Amino acid sequence: MKTVLVLAPFIFLAACGDANQNTSSNTANRTEASGQAIYEMKCGICHKESGASTGPALKGVIARWNGDTSRIQAFIRDPSKMIAAADPQANAVYEKYKPVVMNGFPDLSPQQLQEILQYIQAIP
Ligand code: HEC
Repeated sequence: MKTVLVLAPFIFLAACGDANQNTSSNTANRTEASGQAIYEMKCGICHKESGASTGPALKGVIARWNGDTSRIQAFIRDPSKMIAAADPQANAVYEKYKPVVMNGFPDLSPQQLQEILQYIQAIP
């Protein structure tokens, strides 16, 4: 029997008070700033931009997934599902961090996921 430690209790999925949600202005800067806000609120406790933490550094993560942002988005929404589906990068990173499995963020909209990835991509 595999013991899998899910860290969900650490996450307080606060009712989404996303200040930027209703702005229609879609400049790259704005998108990145909104992505940063979500990142700091929901991801920063486990991920540093560089250097391992509870989870891996997210700098360069897009390249580690061969630029396949739709797979990364699927992972962020439901990591266990991607691990179970034998996704190679999901399993590589799981092997490194098990028994800890990242909790999923099914509530993030495709737009919010996009904003987070844009922010991660801009990490110098
Ligand atoms: C409770 C801790 C925790 C939180 C919060 C968290 N993660 Fe993770 N994350 C992990 C761990 C641990 C892994 C390693 C894979 C695994 O074991 O699930 C991981 C892996 C990842 C990966 C794959 C990394 C790679 O090198 O391929 C991505 C992308 C990612 N997380 C994005 C996010 C985003 C975006 C958020 C915020 C919406 C987030 N994570 C919030 C713990 C967390």
